[in-house]
Parts: sequence; C-alpha cells; structure tokens
Amino acid sequence: EVGLGTNGGGVGSSSSPSKFRSARWFNDKSNPEMSALYADRYFNFGLTEEELMSGRPIVGIAQSGSDLAPCNRYHLTLAKRVREGIRSAGGIAFEFPTHPIQESSRRPTATLDRNLAYLGLVELLFAYPLDGVVLLTGCDKTTPAFLMAAATVNIPAICLNVGPMLNGRIKGSNQRMGSGTVVWKARDLHAAGEIDDDMLVEMITSGTPSAGHCNTMGTASTMNALAEALGMALPGSAAIPAPYRERAQVAYKTGRQIVEMIHADRKPSDIMTREAFENAIVVNSAIGGSTNAPIHLNAIAKHTGVPLDLNDWDKIGFDIPLLVNVQPAGEMLCEEYYKAGGLPAVMAELLDQGKLHAQALTCNGRTVKDNVSGQHSWDRQTIRAYSEPQKESAGFLHMTGSLFDSAIMKTSVISDGFRKEFLEDPNDPNAFECKAVVFDGREDFIQRIDDPKTSIDKRTILVMRGAGPIGYPGAAEVVNMHAPGHLLKQGVHSLPCIGDGRQSGTSGSPSILNASPEAAAGGNLALLRDGDRLRVDLNKRKVNILVAEDELERRRKELESKGGYAIPESQTPWQDIFRRETGQLNEGMVLNCAVKYQRVAQR
Ligand code: FES
Ligand code: MG
Repeated sequence: EVGLGTNGGGVGSSSSPSKFRSARWFNDKSNPEMSALYADRYFNFGLTEEELMSGRPIVGIAQSGSDLAPCNRYHLTLAKRVREGIRSAGGIAFEFPTHPIQESSRRPTATLDRNLAYLGLVELLFAYPLDGVVLLTGCDKTTPAFLMAAATVNIPAICLNVGPMLNGRIKGSNQRMGSGTVVWKARDLHAAGEIDDDMLVEMITSGTPSAGHCNTMGTASTMNALAEALGMALPGSAAIPAPYRERAQVAYKTGRQIVEMIHADRKPSDIMTREAFENAIVVNSAIGGSTNAPIHLNAIAKHTGVPLDLNDWDKIGFDIPLLVNVQPAGEMLCEEYYKAGGLPAVMAELLDQGKLHAQALTCNGRTVKDNVSGQHSWDRQTIRAYSEPQKESAGFLHMTGSLFDSAIMKTSVISDGFRKEFLEDPNDPNAFECKAVVFDGREDFIQRIDDPKTSIDKRTILVMRGAGPIGYPGAAEVVNMHAPGHLLKQGVHSLPCIGDGRQSGTSGSPSILNASPEAAAGGNLALLRDGDRLRVDLNKRKVNILVAEDELERRRKELESKGGYAIPESQTPWQDIFRRETGQLNEGMVLNCAVKYQRVAQR
C-alpha cells in the first residue's frame, strides 16, 4: 500500500497569491509589468491567467525519459499521470527535459553524465518559476543526479522511479534472466567457448523483456530503494515494476503528494538528514545494494551538507544482514521482490530490530515508522526475516593501506570457492597474500588476459588502474575482471580484483573497488608492477604492497620523470572540465566547485 500524506495534497486550500516562490515571477505586485512578461509566453500553449497568476503552486516534472534513455523512456507515459495528480491537487505542471543518462550505451561512461545532469537540473530548478519538482528517476545515475540537484536547490522535491522491468526468461527455459547478471554469466560461458556469438546476444538480451530499468538489484534498483529509504519517494513505490498498474497509480499519487509538500514547505533539507542517510546505509546492506551506492549517497550527502564518509558505511552498514534474495546476491528478480512486499517489508524487519531511525521524516509528512511498521513480507523465500537472513554482514568493508587511502569491498557476494581458496587458512583467516597482475585499463586487460605470457594462476590478484574519475574519465565499471580462459575451464571463476574504477552493481566479483586516490591522481596503484605481492586482510581492513619502501620511492621518481601516470586525452570539452573539477570516488566524485552552493533557492 502506497501512503499519501495526511494532508491529502492541498485541494481547496486557500493559498494567498504571494505564498509560493513562483509568485516572484508571476505575482510580483511591485512590478506587474515583469510578472506579465514572465507569464506571457506560457499563455502561448493555452495556460490562462487564472492558472498562472492566482497563486497556485507551479510544479516541475523533471523528465528523464527519451529515446536516448530507454531505461527511463516509460516516464514519457507516466508523466501524464503525474500531471493529473498535480492538477487534481490544485497545482500546475511544467514538464521539462533533463540531460539524458543511459547507463548501457553512453560512451565512455554514464557517470560522466551524473554531474552534467546535476548541473543542468540545478540551473533549471533555480532559474525558473518552480515551487517544487517531481524527479522522474530510474536508470542508475538519474536518481543520484536529481537528488544531488534537489539538495543543492532545496525546493520541495519527490522522486518517482520508472520501475524495474519484468522478469527476463530465455526461450525454452524457465531460468530467470536478470539484466546485468546475465551479462556476466554469458560472458564467462563465451570466454570458456561454451556458447557462440549468437547465443551470447540471445542470452544478454533476454534480460530486457519490457519497459523499465534493470530488474536486478543493480545500481538502478538500489538507488531508487535508497531514495525511498531516505524518505524522498512514496513508501512502497520504488520496486513496482514499470508495466504494473500500481506504477501509474503511484505516479498519480506522487503528483498529488508534491502539491501537499509545497503547501507544507517540506524541503529536501527537512527530509535528507543525517538520520535519513544512516537509514539508507542500513537499507543498502539489507537489500544487497550496489557498490556504486556509497559513491552516489556520499555525493548526495555532500550537496545536502550532511557529513558522511566510508567509515560510516563500514560502521553502520557492515554488520547488517542481507534480507533480500534478489540477484546478484540472490536468485530472484525485482518482480518477485515487489510482490513479496518490496522495501517496506525490508524496512519493517530493520525497524523491529532498532536498526532504523524510526522518527525520520519522509516526503508524505509521516515518519519511517508510520510508513513501514508491521509491513512484514509473506514471502520468506524472497524477503527474509531478520533472524533468518540470506547472509550475515552484507555491508561494505572500508579498506585502507599502502596501496590506496580508501576503497570498499562487498563481501556478501564472495563465493564459497573463493572463500575456501583465499580466506580459510586456519593460520591466517580472512587474509591472503598473492602476486598481482596489473592492467592499464580495459583494453589492456582484453589484450593480455588470455596471452600465455601473462602469468596468471588461481592465486593471482588482478589489478585494474587508469579507471578512476580522472583516468578514464568518469570512472569505468571495469574492476570486475573475469579469470583467463584456461582457469575458467578448470572451474576457477573468481579471482580477487582491485582497482581504481568501479564495478557494475550487478556484478558478483570479490573486488576491492573505487580505490582512491586513483593512479592518475598520484595513488600508489601507479607504482605497482606485474609480479609484486599484495597482502589483503579483511579483518584489519588493509591492503598493503609487499614491496620495500625504497624500491617504491625509486619507481615514483622514475614515473615522475616521465610526467606521471599516462592518461588518454579528453575527447570532449565536458571530459576536460570534469577532470579538472572532480573529486575522488571515496568522496562521491562530486564537482569540487559545486559543493559550496547549498540551499540556493533560499539565498
Ligand atoms: Fe539502465 Fe540498468 S542500464 S537501469
Ligand atoms: Mg551499472
């Protein structure tokens, strides 16, 4: 059940003409000429004076769907129901396009678009006569980009997810095919020579059966769950599959809710508090959330002005168990997850255990407790009871050491085979040492992984560098590397990986990710060579280079004499600007110059 605020949405409420922000444009009594000019051009598509100049709230609809952004494309239809909700509650809808962000086809990477869409949306929300905004989210980076912008501008804002796709299936089989997860499966089979090119395409595209975003617990499902956990989306709304009738129904309710929020002046800064971020971290562990979540949530927190770092993720999130049995950490897909109760069912478990801030305020004016209390799942195969989790300690470790200052590791996806090989030495549990093989970007990896001269055995750690925010640029999802063909054929699927890039949220590799500072920003990753030994200790949260200090110093001098770690040239002006302004992944990869602009609508 999707909850709507007690105030219903402001129908019939008597608002004075000067009550809202948009009155500065359309109802400026001191300058009626300017008001006429501001309103004038909106008449040309049929809006009337009564609608624009009588003090009704003007509500933006930030449209992220387009042919370029197919994950979010269904928003072109859903927006109609949002409008009807806004209108029925007494508001006037202004729908406008945002910079498209499409995870799967944007070159070189859609993370470049997160900060670009953020900048664009900040300008729109600040500069136009908008009293509040409905953020149409979905594909991975749309959600954080829009929440970052809502935080910066700080006008009432609510997220509406496009919803996940239906379950994928492959012809002639009942096997679930999850978008993203099927790619890794197909890639391994293809690399081992078990399927041909046609079957590779068939398998991968079977994960895409309908409108909507990825149907796995990848970054899209994760970030929309976290938007709901933060209180920025209606309870129960994040997981509704795109084609379900409840999706269009919640679009309508979201439209009504934003009008109520504008009347109540309930802003992002009232909702996205430190408590709300802590709730989101706890939820991320319980759902088996993406390793991209810390990057994005930390970025939203930065723009909100709430202190949050990777130590918080380890401290608050690591010990929380995995409750959701959805790929990549589990078996199901989002359709089953939604039917099992979705996020409110997960949060009800966490609430009972005192793991959530029960009194945190949400967009509908109610607390987390009001929204989710007692909504436990009836499907214990898909959403577990807290006492019988899918896995213990499903959060992220915050790793530090001599190879980098900061990186994360998701241990809940570690396979039994990997655990046995690397972590179960009784003399040294949860730690291992092995030799590194180092790749400079994905192309280098593809060229060398199956080259017999690249000596990789089942005790090798694969290192990927040159894949961070500056090196790539935007940070590539390439740290999850598959084992070479000769090992795959022996059944060795999981080699440990380390890198300064990211990993797809749908990946299940035992990887140490987002290493900061990256090689291109002077990190010690740049000094590593094939054959160097590394020591990884999960209990101590350390990754250390087992190379003598003076040898590292010698390599550093040598590298500096060559002008530092080499990176490819920028291909576009934005890549150039991005590289100059970006922070590192552990800090959310925000534009450094943007952080000081907070609550700009109140300036
Ligand atoms: Fe868009 Fe996964 S690629 S949601
Ligand atoms: Mg992704």
